[in-house]
Amino acid sequence: MALANRSLVTIDDLSNGEIEALFSLADEMSEKMNEQSGLCSGKVMASLFFEPSTRTRLSFETAMHRLGGSVITASDVGITSLAKGESIADMAKVVGSYVDIIVIRHPWEGAAKVVTDYAGVPVINAGDGGHQHPTQTLCDLYTIKKEKQTIKGLKIALWGDLKYGRTIHSLIFALAKFGANIIFCPTPGLEVPEHVLEKLTTEYGGEIERYETPDTVVKEVLLPLDAIYMTPSSPHQLAMMPNVNIKVELKAGVDALYVTRPQKERFTPAEEGQELKKRFPVVDKKLLKSKAFRKTLVMHPLPRVDELAVELDADPRSTYFKQAARGVPVRMALIALLLGVKEVVVSGEDDSFIRRIDYPPYRRDFGVKCPNPRCVSIQETETKYLKPEFKIVNREPLTLRCIYCEHGFEPKYVASSDWHEGRTATKKYHSAESHWAKKIRPENLIIFDSADTAEAHSFKPSHYVRVHPSGKKKMRKK
Ligand code: CP
Repeated sequence: MALANRSLVTIDDLSNGEIEALFSLADEMSEKMNEQSGLCSGKVMASLFFEPSTRTRLSFETAMHRLGGSVITASDVGITSLAKGESIADMAKVVGSYVDIIVIRHPWEGAAKVVTDYAGVPVINAGDGGHQHPTQTLCDLYTIKKEKQTIKGLKIALWGDLKYGRTIHSLIFALAKFGANIIFCPTPGLEVPEHVLEKLTTEYGGEIERYETPDTVVKEVLLPLDAIYMTPSSPHQLAMMPNVNIKVELKAGVDALYVTRPQKERFTPAEEGQELKKRFPVVDKKLLKSKAFRKTLVMHPLPRVDELAVELDADPRSTYFKQAARGVPVRMALIALLLGVKEVVVSGEDDSFIRRIDYPPYRRDFGVKCPNPRCVSIQETETKYLKPEFKIVNREPLTLRCIYCEHGFEPKYVASSDWHEGRTATKKYHSAESHWAKKIRPENLIIFDSADTAEAHSFKPSHYVRVHPSGKKKMRKK
């Protein structure tokens, strides 16, 4: 099967079969590393890194050199015309006219999608803000498969900054796609965003069990976990609990502990203060002395700061430097496939646990915008050509998901474009929670992020919105 001319923005852009086939090609390439130099001869890769990087950038550039191709690079927004106010779309069109493939890292969430939409050549997301880092996830999955032979049914604990860690977000979906169980061990205050958990349960079919306070089992395995994702017992079996009891299973052993550093560059000022006050346990030999960790792979996307003790480097359970080294063959395989210089056989059987849902789109260029301050769609240079665009992922409560950064949120007010009142002079808006609002067909929905926005567009409050003496709009009681 050819993956030529495709892009990789999120981990869901590749099926399980394609990922497995890519891993076979990476195996082949790593065995004969010095025999690949003719594959990309004459091809050029743009390596655009607008955030710091050691592993991703250098392993991509090494991969292209080993394939016999050339690399052009920009590693600082300040030395590109983005600093003069050029849009990402214009940059993508121009760079896409010079090269055969683009690798981009950017602090704005959704930036890689915009580059993909405008470049006209394959694009690889090398990390877009706190959104996703799909090629790190390929390295992580490849390492787990190499060390444990399978991913399905494993118990993988995710540790540290689960809120801003982009490697965490792509890995969560990938593990769910391959049928693993996930143990969430966040630093307090850096829990997995709700929109990630919501997508996990609606589209990957498993169940989440949350823990308010650590229970006995948790204490026994020394994991400060706050939730567990239990995978369905087989693909497409929505909400089917596994036959085994996950708590009992936990005592039997954790297959991998994936540690991440606090992503301080994305912290709000309040979180920075919190970070100084609250220290999370360091992963060291003492923490891993329980029987449950006897065969645990200790993983980390790196760079590490203080969260993972150096003493573990010599421990046979440590796997993080292997993860980094495997970045070269994995990225070689990916570049070769997207450039179409290699083809692979992909198993016809769809063994993915993912459930693809065709959510109704929501596209209007007024009324509501993505509330995520790091989303590409709300940045000044990009709003001239990017219109807000969402998927309606739920009606009760009304929930939108931004198509760029994938943040989910619940807007408060709605109206209908199908004017039941007959005249625009009587345009009314309603609380999104009201009985009336739920009846509006998706194609007629007009969504407002505040009552002020609705009124700025000449809509008046209906009986389903009333003004509270405090001055705040309040939903009328039914
Ligand atoms: N794992 C990872 O993305 O490392 P770099 O930031 O060094 O590329």
